Amino acid sequence: MALVKIILGSTRPNRFGAQPAEWVMEQTKHVSGHQFELIDLEKVNLPLLDEPTPPMMRQYSKDHTKVWSQMIDEADGFIFITAEYNHSVPAALKNAIDFLFHEWNYKPASFVSYGSLAGGARAVEHLRGICGEVKIYDLREQMLMPDYYHKLDEQGLHKFEESHHKEIQNILEQTVFWADRMKAIRQELQDQPT
Ligand SMILES: Cc1cc2nc3c(=O)[nH]c(=O)nc-3n(C[C@H](O)[C@H](O)[C@H](O)COP(=O)(O)O)c2cc1C
Repeated sequence: MALVKIILGSTRPNRFGAQPAEWVMEQTKHVSGHQFELIDLEKVNLPLLDEPTPPMMRQYSKDHTKVWSQMIDEADGFIFITAEYNHSVPAALKNAIDFLFHEWNYKPASFVSYGSLAGGARAVEHLRGICGEVKIYDLREQMLMPDYYHKLDEQGLHKFEESHHKEIQNILEQTVFWADRMKAIRQELQDQPT
């Protein structure tokens, strides 16, 4: 059994990101035998990186880092829900990733992104590079939501389409598949030098 954490990376008031995050959590009900948890970075409330030693040393001086470390350490894989800010990921998400190193290692990740014409594609391309550096194994699977603001109902709620449902099921299946298998070999890999 794998534990997959769904990380919501935008933190600003009135953010749209809460909608896809809640929707993805809803969709996890169709996947049995695995656990899913939502991590809302707005609630985690990390400051800008304030540890005196680099995360590779794993010597944390701040309580918020120790809490964040535990949250990521216990995960076997991730689904990032990301906005696109100036063609990249929100600073809060980059900052949260930068806080840690070992806790991310040898775990798979897939992506849900939203934005204007590109649907957050450029943010995910950046995120894949960041993932590589902390040894997160990025999966091909991603769901893009271009021009999402043209697909809201009168209450401002996004209308998810049939194609979204198919895409998210594939994302969930692939993520738990690799999370489960990588969990089994992670201990062996972690004994190797970085
Ligand atoms: C600082 C900032 C930069 C943005 N840059 C982009 C961008 O490069 N590409 C894009 O598609 N949308 C961009 N947008 C529009 C966002 O896609 C849109 O505001 C979205 O709702 C942001 O996600 P959030 O509501 O979860 O914060 C930007 C928005 C903000 C606030």
